[in-house]
Amino acid sequence: KKLMIINGPNLNLLGKREPGIYGSLSFEEFLEEIKQKYTDIKIDYFQSNIEGELIDKLQEVGFSYDGIILNAAAYTHTSVGIGDAIKAIETPVVEVHISNTFSREAFRHQSYISPNAKGVILGFGLQSYELAIQSFI
Ligand code: DQA
Repeated sequence: KKLMIINGPNLNLLGKREPGIYGSLSFEEFLEEIKQKYTDIKIDYFQSNIEGELIDKLQEVGFSYDGIILNAAAYTHTSVGIGDAIKAIETPVVEVHISNTFSREAFRHQSYISPNAKGVILGFGLQSYELAIQSFI
């Protein structure tokens, strides 16, 4: 199986950014642990702070990978373009969030990803990504 994890804006700062909400582990550290645990799955990773680059990556992998795990971060709540890209591709997308967005500000309750996602996993910290990986096994 081939999975792609895509992280959106500011998630390159995981470990440093608001650790009370997002934890103190960097995504690179977490990814190493996960790759060692799931050795029979190929797990690729891409992060960008730029909306169009996230759309380019979805289009690039969206016809060949078995699954995409997407944390579009703040673009979740604003991006019609990312929502449309998910509709346009064939690979199923699981939406993940580290925090429980529904227990936070009202503007985080809206998602342009969810209506087009296979499923949504949120609120479990970095474990949200692992649960998403398990959903594809
Ligand atoms: C987030 C939640 C978003 O509301 C926020 O903009 C993020 C991270 C999360 O993983 O909890 O950047 O997607």
